[in-house]
Amino acid sequence: MMQTIVLPPVAQSFKTPWVEVDLGLLEQNISKMKASLNHTTSVIFVVKSNAYGHGLVPIAKSAVHAGIDWLGVAYLEEALELRQSLPQHVHLLVLGAVDAANTPILLDHRIIPVVVSKSHGLDFSHNAVRFDQSLPVHLKIDTGMGRFGIPWEDANHTLSGLLKDPGLKIQGICTHFSSVEPNHPKEAHEQVKRMSQIGAFSKGHLLRHVSNSRAFLNYPQWDFDAVRTGMALYGYGANEAERIQTQPILQWKTHVIQVKSVPANFPVGYYASYRTDTPTDIATVSVGYADGFPRLLGNRGHVLIRGQRCKVIGRVSMNWITVDVGHESGVDAGEEVVLIGKQGSASIWADEIAKKADTIPYEILTRIHPHAPRIYI
Ligand SMILES: Cc1ncc(COP(=O)(O)O)c(C=O)c1O
Repeated sequence: MMQTIVLPPVAQSFKTPWVEVDLGLLEQNISKMKASLNHTTSVIFVVKSNAYGHGLVPIAKSAVHAGIDWLGVAYLEEALELRQSLPQHVHLLVLGAVDAANTPILLDHRIIPVVVSKSHGLDFSHNAVRFDQSLPVHLKIDTGMGRFGIPWEDANHTLSGLLKDPGLKIQGICTHFSSVEPNHPKEAHEQVKRMSQIGAFSKGHLLRHVSNSRAFLNYPQWDFDAVRTGMALYGYGANEAERIQTQPILQWKTHVIQVKSVPANFPVGYYASYRTDTPTDIATVSVGYADGFPRLLGNRGHVLIRGQRCKVIGRVSMNWITVDVGHESGVDAGEEVVLIGKQGSASIWADEIAKKADTIPYEILTRIHPHAPRIYI
């Protein structure tokens, strides 16, 4: 016979990492973006991948409170989760390719997919017509990203058929930049030029959206009817921008588990990749690569303890890191450690970590373990 096991309550003095998100700052970031746009241009706030690690539903709710009425996700499942928790007026756009077999779900829950090819569009239409309905969709054009989307070369031809299709209510048209580099602007300009040669785009009857955060920040002339932005609203890439400045809204924190005073030449961590130069204190801190702390930060990264930058020494292990807190530091077990965020006048943000870990802040933020508790302030 199966026995139900009741798990005992666990004492929480050695806390695992957690995330703090400042929703007030998010609302400020949104207000700044909205204020910089023409009043006819919408913001489609990209909240895919658990709102870039910030937590899907609380971020979406707060954004809607700040006046956002379009949200972009990658998967139908994310849109369904949002539909349950948000007011009905909010438009939900799935930026990834949804299987057309899901047409009844899209219709029932008023979720808008993008059409990525002629056959994809026809499949949606076929399914919608069976329910005597037409499905609202946006057309996704591949103008140079080389990912999914209707190839720009055939777009006029492909769209002429789809636009007349009774099962589709084509409401928008979009593309995605492969790069937006103001120092090498050719590629992005070429993508916009290709888009402008498409009749359905140039006529201006549909909701036109091309810009991600970098395009929004650098090319106001490409705002069109909506900008499709994520990162700038989470507070990255726009701290020294001219158009608006936004601030990071997420902090990632944990605790010191143990502190030991060690002599010079003391080996630290797997394979003793670090040896102390002088006597010092080593703090073992509760975070590791399984929590999303990049392994590449071993012997390279920093964390904040008592408002000081402390170097990560030794390799990052699965659940713990070791940090040099300095000789006779006085640091104790249980003290707070900031992995991303600020403490006193010191700060470490995801873009700094990304550089050291040879990646981009998007990866740092989205890899913070989804089970880490998110606290909303
Ligand atoms: C299709 C699409 N549009 C917009 C965005 C938002 O980009 P950003 O966060 O740089 O503003 C993304 C992000 O990956 C995307 O995939």
